[in-house]
Amino acid sequence: MPVLPSKTRRIGVLTSGGDCPGLNAVIRGLTKTAINTYGMKVVGILDGFRGLVENRTRPLEFADLSGVLTRGGTILGTSRDKPAKMPIGGKVQDMTSVAVANARGLKLDCVVCLGGGGTQKNAWQLHQAGGLDVLTMPKTIDNDVAGTDRSFGFATAVQTAAEAIDRLHDTATSHDRMIVVEVMGNKAGWLALGAGIAAGADVVLIPEIPYDLQAVANFLLRRQRRHGRKFSIVCVAEGAVSRQEAAVATGRRRNGKEADPAELEDDRGYRLVKESLASRLARQLQELTRTEARVTTLGHVQRGGVPTASDRLLCTALGVKAAELLAAGVYNVMVGIRDGVCVPVPLQEVVGIRRVVPLDHAWLLTANRLGTCLGIANAEFSALWEGKVTLEELNSRG
Ligand code: F6P
Repeated sequence: MPVLPSKTRRIGVLTSGGDCPGLNAVIRGLTKTAINTYGMKVVGILDGFRGLVENRTRPLEFADLSGVLTRGGTILGTSRDKPAKMPIGGKVQDMTSVAVANARGLKLDCVVCLGGGGTQKNAWQLHQAGGLDVLTMPKTIDNDVAGTDRSFGFATAVQTAAEAIDRLHDTATSHDRMIVVEVMGNKAGWLALGAGIAAGADVVLIPEIPYDLQAVANFLLRRQRRHGRKFSIVCVAEGAVSRQEAAVATGRRRNGKEADPAELEDDRGYRLVKESLASRLARQLQELTRTEARVTTLGHVQRGGVPTASDRLLCTALGVKAAELLAAGVYNVMVGIRDGVCVPVPLQEVVGIRRVVPLDHAWLLTANRLGTCLGIANAEFSALWEGKVTLEELNSRG
């Protein structure tokens, strides 16, 4: 195939923030197309924005891409460092100008940044404050990047979490126990909701719907009466909050109904070591339902592994589209997917916005109709769905 004309000659690519399956698949799609189809040179920047500040790079050639499509993690390494606030020698410093000078020294026309919400912000800041041209792609198992219907890595994490919950189901039924399983997702409930539905969890608690502990306990007790079995799976997002916590967060005074152990202090005024959300819930629900409970936190297991075919397809399409946009000289956009098509989205429409599960999302109705408890009484869910009550009103019920 003849090399097509390209306005961009040389690009850098970095991966930043928490890793996720599919990063290597994007690097491969982008680099192969950039080199093969458009004759660009590609420089790999190591360990996220820190590598740009410290000028640590490696050339990315065709040979480097062999076998990476299915590999988890990132061949470039990653970090959570921000150019504008980088810890250097014990001090936090603004390294924006150094990052930009290094990119210029490397003769990069554009730096391609693969990352989640924080990375979008950092890339935009390099452009705004330093005049560096950037292009981003949405990476995160949390699926919370704005401007795209889906982030890559999410589908694989749902698969991993669902498979883990399937296994927990086996042991929960055998022992007739409740298992509270905590999944990642930061402040968004996509992963818990997706994996919870896919694995048939009985209760799914997400940050978007602050839960009512008593409503969850009542649901579990009803389930026991109906089926004569005690086993159940409670799938909780790491960012889920109780109604009381939500009310406190929105400025209301704590009503004392549910003391939060995370805020208790010892006799010297030290805050006690934080009890995990899943442990706290298991303890509370065991007490309220008189059912033996166990806790599993899936943690970073959800971030590793071979990307699913659907993620690989998305990653490859995003990488190829990014190369096409770079060749056309389109910069300072995020390449997202909307209605199945890869499109450039202006970074201003992405930065600073967390995409959480909207309260009218079809997955919520799916779960509710199926009989899954979403942390509130069924009548309350219906009223919420129909817009007859707001979340704030529900939270104020305590
Ligand atoms: O953003 C991805 C994510 O895995 C979140 O789901 C989680 O809260 C966080 O990263 C964990 O971060 P770290 O890798 O720093 O422990």
